[in-house]
Amino acid sequence: MKTKVLMVCLGNICRSPLAEGILKSKVDANAVLVDSSGTAGYHIGNPPDKRSIAVAQKHLLDISAQKCRQFSKNDFKEFDLIYAMDKNNFINILSLANTEKDKKKVRLLLDEVNLGINEVPDPYYGGVDGFEEVYQMINSACEAIAKKLN
Ligand code: 4NP
Repeated sequence: MKTKVLMVCLGNICRSPLAEGILKSKVDANAVLVDSSGTAGYHIGNPPDKRSIAVAQKHLLDISAQKCRQFSKNDFKEFDLIYAMDKNNFINILSLANTEKDKKKVRLLLDEVNLGINEVPDPYYGGVDGFEEVYQMINSACEAIAKKLN
């Protein structure tokens, strides 16, 4: 059985699409399924933000085919591990959990690494530099996750 990992942010257009693309690039697709979603529904059906697509491309990853979707309660049934990019996402995901088993699936992405920060900042209203910074944080965490899963 595949391990199923879900990356979650607010909009599912900036951070979690990067997390999905980065983790996918580091794991065996036969053993690990990676997806992403957003706690909000502002951008459902849209591709990732152009700045996320660009920073991924700079690191030789193509995330342009991803489509935004909203996190749903059903994701607790589908996924084994649910990684939140920040504490607000974490709280919002937990508020939809029905069981202790569901709650245990939810983690903060940056708790996988020691970067001295435990939230991936929202880069949406900032500049391009923010996207590279976010890429690096997510990349470090995904490296640690991939080591455990591979
Ligand atoms: P994300 O960034 O949660 O990393 O996808 C955001 C994208 C869109 C909005 C906020 C954050 N928004 O308010 O539309």
